[in-house]
Amino acid sequence: MNIKTQLAPKGLEFRYRDFVISDKYATILTVITYPKYINAGYLSSLTSIPGLKIVIKHIPLPFGTITKMINKEIAELKQDYEDERDKTRQEMIRQNYESMEEFVTMLAATQAHIFDFQMHVMITADTEDELAAKKLQVKNYMESMQMYAVPLMFEQEKVLKSIIPIFPKQDIEDRVGTPMPAPTMSAMYPFIFDSIKDPGLSTLLGTDFSGGVVLFNQFLYQIQKEHNRNNANMIILGTSGSGKSTAAKLFLRSHFRNNSKIIVIDPEGELEEMSRSLGGDFIDLGKGGEFGVVNPLEVVLDADTDELQQGMGYTVLTRTLQSIKAFFKYYDPTAEEDVITMLSEVLQETYKRFGMDFTTDYSKFTSKDYPTFDDVYATIRGKILSMPEATQEKAIMEKLEIKVRPLVGELKFYFDQHSTITPKSNFIVFNIKEFMNSADNIRNALFFNILKYAWGMTLDSSVNTILMVDEAHVLMNKQNTLGADFLAQIQRRARKYNTGTIIITQQPSDFSDEAVLTQGRAIFDNASYYLVMGLKKQAVEDLSKLIDLNDNEKEAIKRYQQGDALFVCGSRRMQIQIIATQDELDSMGSGGGL
Ligand SMILES: Nc1ncnc2c1ncn2[C@@H]1O[C@H](COP(=O)(O)OP(=O)(O)O)[C@@H](O)[C@H]1O
Ligand SMILES: [Mg+2]
Repeated sequence: MNIKTQLAPKGLEFRYRDFVISDKYATILTVITYPKYINAGYLSSLTSIPGLKIVIKHIPLPFGTITKMINKEIAELKQDYEDERDKTRQEMIRQNYESMEEFVTMLAATQAHIFDFQMHVMITADTEDELAAKKLQVKNYMESMQMYAVPLMFEQEKVLKSIIPIFPKQDIEDRVGTPMPAPTMSAMYPFIFDSIKDPGLSTLLGTDFSGGVVLFNQFLYQIQKEHNRNNANMIILGTSGSGKSTAAKLFLRSHFRNNSKIIVIDPEGELEEMSRSLGGDFIDLGKGGEFGVVNPLEVVLDADTDELQQGMGYTVLTRTLQSIKAFFKYYDPTAEEDVITMLSEVLQETYKRFGMDFTTDYSKFTSKDYPTFDDVYATIRGKILSMPEATQEKAIMEKLEIKVRPLVGELKFYFDQHSTITPKSNFIVFNIKEFMNSADNIRNALFFNILKYAWGMTLDSSVNTILMVDEAHVLMNKQNTLGADFLAQIQRRARKYNTGTIIITQQPSDFSDEAVLTQGRAIFDNASYYLVMGLKKQAVEDLSKLIDLNDNEKEAIKRYQQGDALFVCGSRRMQIQIIATQDELDSMGSGGGL
């Protein structure tokens, strides 16, 4: 056995307009007519059809040959012109030879190089029927691009040899080419040289595939209108180790330098070094007690001017009740609807005891003024005691009592305290690593609780704020659409507060699950930017339920190396490479990683 027999196909049989190669049926179409005018990247829509092999040859032609060829044709046309009796046809011929004469003058004037352009499209299929269907589809598609292609009959073997570099020149090559000047030919190629060089305060993110730098301004909408870039929300996706956090840290660093406020939920505790070196606050949550606690009952003042006219208290308390319900659903995903409704009533009563209702001005309160779960529990106990008879309502209340009890018992240090967060800087990291390994429901409830609080810190519209959430899929719980709603709401409302989100996840699948797909779509639709790094096959399929990906992009994403990304930037999309220098990597610290 030698290399030749290894490489050679197991069977090869040429027929008059197709051939069989190993166990596949194939045919090669040769393009014989091109349109009069083409745009840059003309062939890109063709090369994005999966399963097609497109071969282009371009052979330099000496200037003399080409002018001789054209002049000969001009002479022929002029003769036709003389012989033609029909006035309309005559006029057409005249236009043709005039445009050719112009072409020759242009060639001479610009010294453009001329190439003999040859193009073949190879189609393969598993069965003969499939081949026929595919061939028709491709031909129609090409015709819509004003290209006409045919299988050269009885010459499939020559065409195949012509497109494989190891064979000598085939005689068909003298017949299938079309002379083209260099600028036209280069526009044929499917690459489009688009790049992102935003004005204003930008992040130097890396390079595009042509080696140009990518300068990206996440808040571009504030200084310039660009199609589909009307918010500052970004979603970063990729498997573990693909480089999401590294990219995110590049963003954070430049946002901080540009005087934006930074709020981060850091599930891996990987931002410690960076926040320390930037003089930020690294707040340990999940250790309970004296480190940092967020009271789930603390009110977030998310209400814009329109809503304030209906009364601030109304909006604020309604949102608060909604978010506490969401919190409770994370904590107890099986909690029934009647228990949740009862919780809402009990909460309202508790707030009332603290002088807080639908008409209150919440802007005057501080963390110490809000009730905690202890107070909610007291309300529940009081209600039970005041119900001597065993009623339906009492049964629900007792159920609620059992569910709330751990919150004021063994989980007291997480959930039953006044908030004790006192950041001193504009770079605030909530380290939640400590509780990422606790029971799912506790972890999810804490995560959500921090998110709500962190969101509350982004509501000062006088500064640009970045709210970054890593491992965001944790929030997409099938049994808790309320929680997913909350994240979708943040995405929708961020712009009002000059906030941009950076949502990071390794599991797009959690966003495309049937139960939360509506919310997942809203979260994605309300982001102008996606940075898609390497993903596995299933994750790519799930992601394509949330954003448009063509087949080429899907294939490419599966093969991305660390740092490679598809950057969807408003209406533009391109493959880029995120570049972090060694210095940058060092300054980001050693935490996190895989
Ligand atoms: N663009 C990059 N250039 C150089 N090294 C990188 C790049 N992206 C990631 N790395 C390296 O790979 C490690 C893991 O990347 P990370 O961003 O933490 O992945 P993810 O957050 O996706 O799990 C980083 O600690 C860093 O050393
Ligand atoms: Mg990471």
